[in-house]
Amino acid sequence: MNLNITCIPGDGIGPEIVREAKKVLDKVAVKFGHTITYTDILMGGASIDVHGVPLTEKAVATAKAADAVLMGSIGGDTSTSPWYKLAPNLRPEAGLLALRKALNLFANLRPAVLYDELAGACPLKEEISSAGFDMMIMRELTGGLYFGERKTVEENGVRKAIDTLTYDENEIRRIAIKGFDIAMKRKKKVTSVDKANVLDSSRLWRAVVNEVAKDYPEVTLEHMLVDNCAMQLVKDPAQFDVILTENMFGDILSDEASMVTGSIGMLASASLNDTKFGLYEPSHGSAPDIAGKDIANPIATVLSASMMLRYSFDLDKEADAIDQAVRKVLQDGYRTGDIMSEGCTQVGCSRMGDLLAERI
Ligand code: IPM
Ligand code: MG
Repeated sequence: MNLNITCIPGDGIGPEIVREAKKVLDKVAVKFGHTITYTDILMGGASIDVHGVPLTEKAVATAKAADAVLMGSIGGDTSTSPWYKLAPNLRPEAGLLALRKALNLFANLRPAVLYDELAGACPLKEEISSAGFDMMIMRELTGGLYFGERKTVEENGVRKAIDTLTYDENEIRRIAIKGFDIAMKRKKKVTSVDKANVLDSSRLWRAVVNEVAKDYPEVTLEHMLVDNCAMQLVKDPAQFDVILTENMFGDILSDEASMVTGSIGMLASASLNDTKFGLYEPSHGSAPDIAGKDIANPIATVLSASMMLRYSFDLDKEADAIDQAVRKVLQDGYRTGDIMSEGCTQVGCSRMGDLLAERI
């Protein structure tokens, strides 16, 4: 198979971790007889530095022409980087939001898994973590508060800022269908998260999710208020299978869920449209403080490449080979600094990439 992949190395540790993911993908290609063509584009701060904007139309066109996009991370230190002196629509994050919209990537899949080998890093009490957990956060990614109209005005000398949260039923239905489809391949449970005791958008969300649920009689559906969900994630994470939620709640809850695993450097994500096309990126950020030091953990990006093979190319065997290489490297006792524990061997970003590639 010929895989045409657009890469976005991005900012901070992005270029290092993408390089290691390519190393692993190249090994997969050799082993399973595929050819991969990579085309790099600039986004975020890297694009601002060259073009003055976080995403160019040409970059969008390149991404659109690919089969899938593999991304590192974007953004810098918000208090010190000159990128954050620019107007909000010219900052690094605006590039990512614009790309999600341009590619219609409305479904964001963020797995949060407790790895047995890393259970010691889980910040929860052992009586909670010993139950293990493996959940998939399904976050709506192109609607809601992050894409509604916004403005800042001054009224009678008082500054006032307005953001709007809008969802129509079609936007809710398509993400709900994806959520139930994914649940069918997992433990067949959906927890739909909203704030239906306050927000109209949440009441519509709940109504549409209930309608979609009728087509999935095998799936158990429950509704949970977002504030309660934030508590339940630390109290009893094992109860969750698929968490289905809107954009901002998903942004916040997915960070919480990944922190609860204790190993955010291990968590991948996929953002999909209604075809096989997707953008794959680690769940963590650009970690500017450790950029360029060859100490970042590339595993989340490597696992994002695995999700890409599985969801965009239907190459399940190849994806399994990557997932197994990750397990094997952990079992063999290799760790980057962020997941280091006593008795293990600490390695840098590039060495971790070599060790993973060797195990394909
Ligand atoms: C994420 C990030 C982005 C988001 C930012 C960088 C715009 O936090 O992918 O979760 O909020 O969607
Ligand atoms: Mg976020």
